[in-house]
Amino acid sequence: MTSEWPYFPLFLRLRDEPVLLVGAGDVAARKLRLLRRAGARVQIVARELNDEVRAAVDDNAATHLAAEFSSDLVDRQRLIVAATDDAVLNARIAAAAHTANIPVNVVDDAERSSFIVPAIVDRSPMLVAISSGAAAPVLARRVRERIEAMLPAAYGRLAAFMHRLREQVKAQAGVSPRAIWERFIDGPGAEAALRGDDAAAAQALAGLLVNGPQRGEVYLVGAGPGDPDLLTFRALRLMQQCDVVLYDRLVSPAIMELVRRDAERLYVGKARSDHAVPQDEINQELVRHAQAGKRVLRLKGGDPFIFGRGGEEIETLMAHGVRFQVVPGVTAASGCAAYAGIPLTHRDYAQACVFVTGHARKDGQLELHWDQLARRGQTVVFYMGLQTLPQICTALIEHGLPRDWPAAVIEDGTSVRQRVLGATLDDLPQRVIEANIKGPTLLIVGEVVKLRDKLAWFEGAAGG
Ligand SMILES: C[S@@+](CC[C@H](N)C(=O)[O-])C[C@H]1O[C@@H](n2cnc3c(N)ncnc32)[C@H](O)[C@@H]1O
Repeated sequence: MTSEWPYFPLFLRLRDEPVLLVGAGDVAARKLRLLRRAGARVQIVARELNDEVRAAVDDNAATHLAAEFSSDLVDRQRLIVAATDDAVLNARIAAAAHTANIPVNVVDDAERSSFIVPAIVDRSPMLVAISSGAAAPVLARRVRERIEAMLPAAYGRLAAFMHRLREQVKAQAGVSPRAIWERFIDGPGAEAALRGDDAAAAQALAGLLVNGPQRGEVYLVGAGPGDPDLLTFRALRLMQQCDVVLYDRLVSPAIMELVRRDAERLYVGKARSDHAVPQDEINQELVRHAQAGKRVLRLKGGDPFIFGRGGEEIETLMAHGVRFQVVPGVTAASGCAAYAGIPLTHRDYAQACVFVTGHARKDGQLELHWDQLARRGQTVVFYMGLQTLPQICTALIEHGLPRDWPAAVIEDGTSVRQRVLGATLDDLPQRVIEANIKGPTLLIVGEVVKLRDKLAWFEGAAGG
């Protein structure tokens, strides 16, 4: 059997309605703030007003009766709030309200209250109200914090846009308006409204009203280095509304778990020796799916614009007139460095930080500006440098860095399998062989590596 609700959830129109608020301390001020947002005509009964309440009265946002509460004051009120610090007086107010059959809230006294004020997530005109039925207000507040974090701040903007266009959609929608709105919310139109681009949102909506089927779009999304907690809100939102996902080897299974369940999944990963899906083909696949009207998620490890070939992909999309958006992700350098306790810059050790690829040419050679890399006072982060690690360390020493210059390799950074090997340019290659490091790995070279001894905080399951 389902349990009974302690309160009936509803939203009450209070615009221009009379509300009696007894008390004028901090708690009353909080209630007054909410009542003002709802446009209520608030009468305050209190001998003394705190500064906030006084300002509201001076502003004509409420009227003030400097008197003791008496039961005749409850007449013709729509609501009553008892917010004094006198429990006996609060009980008297509640009794008068109950006798007159007027809903009353007694602050911190659910027993005497006929209504309670929920915890609120404000995305007005959309409001989310949370209540634990007065059983566990702290828990309700925690739930509110979670919903706050989940709902983009711009949801209010989206709701306002939908409100403005509601009548038009009702009039024009051949099929049910609800179907149109559902497709709108999942599509690029809602994304545009969230960004504040009402013109694009209106255009997307008009397209839905005329054509029905939605136009495709590509989301080029950075999934971060591995830990799903490092995803951005926007990444998560787009992951949950795509029709098809093309993903790389470096996108962790835990992140793939968060992609919409019924989305089609296409693995286009490129292991070093496995070029199963060449870049050109990936570009064409993106275009093909988008042109078929799908919302295509192109999910990449780290950030799509850092050694991610994201630029090439969107060049192709642009050439084909396919709409897209790019969502940055935490790049491996920031993710791995943070989780390894190695700040990439530091006042004493590194005033610059360079990201560089350690990927060799076809002939196995590395073509890098070693003079610029082998410098003191900077940190150099090598992506894709595991195979060429001996070459990198030798070249840096040959170009002037000391043999005992600090360097670290981070394997599987930010995941529970993370391993960090701190060493010197001289002995790092041998240490990596001994530890059987496989990858993905990031190489950090510079004096900042020494700080790890003090700053390491995250240890993967493998022992860190
Ligand atoms: C093709 S690049 C992609 C980089 C990605 N776009 C980014 O911004 O992090 C792949 C390289 O990134 C590095 N990498 C990515 N994720 C990593 C992780 N979790 N731990 C260590 N290195 C990582 C490795 O050097 C790997 O070879």
